[in-house]
Amino acid sequence: MKPSERLNVTVVGTGYVGLTTALALAYLGHRLQCVDKNPEIVEKLDRGISTIYEQGLEELLTDTRNQISFNGSLPECLDQNTDVLIIAVGTPSKENGDTDLCYVEEVAREIGRNLLPEKPLVVVNKSTVPVGTARRVDTVIREELERRQVEGKFSVTSNPEFLREGSALHDTLYPDRIVVGSEEVWSVNILRQMYAPILSQDFTPPRAVPRPESMGLPALVTTTPTSAELLKYTANAFLAAKISFINEIAGLAEKVGADIKEVARGVGLDHRIGSAFLNAGAGWGGSCFPKDTRSLLHTARQYGYEMPLTSAAVEVNRRQRMKIIEKLQESLKVIRGSTIGILGLSFKPNTDDIRESPAIEVMGELLELGARVKAYDPVAMDKYRNTYPEQDINYAASVEETAQNSDALVLLTDWEQFIHAPWKDIAPTMRHPIFIDGRNLLQPESMRQWGYQYLGIGRPTGSGFINSLNIT
Ligand SMILES: NC(=O)c1ccc[n+]([C@@H]2O[C@H](COP(=O)([O-])OP(=O)(O)OC[C@H]3O[C@@H](n4cnc5c(N)ncnc54)[C@H](O)[C@@H]3O)[C@@H](O)[C@H]2O)c1
Repeated sequence: MKPSERLNVTVVGTGYVGLTTALALAYLGHRLQCVDKNPEIVEKLDRGISTIYEQGLEELLTDTRNQISFNGSLPECLDQNTDVLIIAVGTPSKENGDTDLCYVEEVAREIGRNLLPEKPLVVVNKSTVPVGTARRVDTVIREELERRQVEGKFSVTSNPEFLREGSALHDTLYPDRIVVGSEEVWSVNILRQMYAPILSQDFTPPRAVPRPESMGLPALVTTTPTSAELLKYTANAFLAAKISFINEIAGLAEKVGADIKEVARGVGLDHRIGSAFLNAGAGWGGSCFPKDTRSLLHTARQYGYEMPLTSAAVEVNRRQRMKIIEKLQESLKVIRGSTIGILGLSFKPNTDDIRESPAIEVMGELLELGARVKAYDPVAMDKYRNTYPEQDINYAASVEETAQNSDALVLLTDWEQFIHAPWKDIAPTMRHPIFIDGRNLLQPESMRQWGYQYLGIGRPTGSGFINSLNIT
């Protein structure tokens, strides 16, 4: 990157989105300052230790050491050089489904209190926020400037993030599109400059995050802040609905004796539909789909508008969690006093994020029903233990230890490691080799051959005419 193209960027909030964005931009050649109000996070990142589990982050922390700094105070990171300030703080749900914007507003107030009059600043809303938030951030900054009796030039733009945890750096460096919602051309141009290496893909990929072979150039979608804000929720609600849709069909597949994996494959090959997000299972979780569907429904309620499809997607997802419990009840009959082994605590593989993970509800319900619960996850156990100390879980050191003397195993996260566990040797160590595959990860025929009573989601149970044909 030529020195004239280099921007000074401050990122506020160094969680999954903020840290990934900051490291990617630093790698591409910009100068980055990162702010987080959590001193433990700042201290660790400053020592080059990643605070989240994401492939490639630690390597990039080392590679970008000279381009990036970490700080606990926003005023110290907002100086006459700052061109862009990215807000990437959390936007959790309130009780009523509304989005809690207190962290975003806190940052907006701090910007207003510290904005330098002589330097134009692009303020970027990267956090997922309901329609009207760009305008709200603008108002809060203006209020503070008025209080100070200072004139400042700034432009609030909406730049929603679409990265997936588990492949966050990959998605940031090689996105399908970048969306910029702004009312002003100058701020769009600055963001075009900030994202130029990604838009042209003219950078050398980091060792840990290679460029996909068949990648086309990402699109830059420029629009209004309101459309950009709605666009983000639309994308998440659509993906959540796609998963709920296949889960709804999976329920019917169980009734009629069809195999949802084969149904989904045949359906997904239609390019109008696509095969992604057509995996039946224990349902979606994580820090985005649950809160973003709630937020979208809340916005619709504020306008007196019904959204039956999104509401149904949420309801199907809730039902999907309970399916796991029902399957255990059907196969074990009595849950009280049984030992159930849970495999997978993160809401999806390759991340340590446990927010709204199926494990929380499933294990909570099992404990409520009087079961003894053992659990194992390759990376998320410490986080789970610290976040839910009230759940009386026995944490195991391996899949084998989880299975030992268990009455049933329930797989809730499709970690690749679980595919390669020595299932044949594990079956005899269980009290009852009941296996509920909440992600349809394993091969039913092999599992049954090794003695498991294997139950997937939307898959034939192993008895009956169709299965005896042994179709592969
Ligand atoms: N996680 C994802 O996969 C993902 C994907 C797309 C969009 N998003 C959206 O991005 C936003 C951030 O999500 P996340 O998962 O990175 O959140 P996170 O909880 O991992 O990180 C948020 C960080 O912000 C910090 N913070 C909060 N208030 C602050 C303040 N006033 N000053 C400085 N730091 C502050 C917190 O300490 C925390 O480290 C959310 O709106 C989320 O919906 C997340």
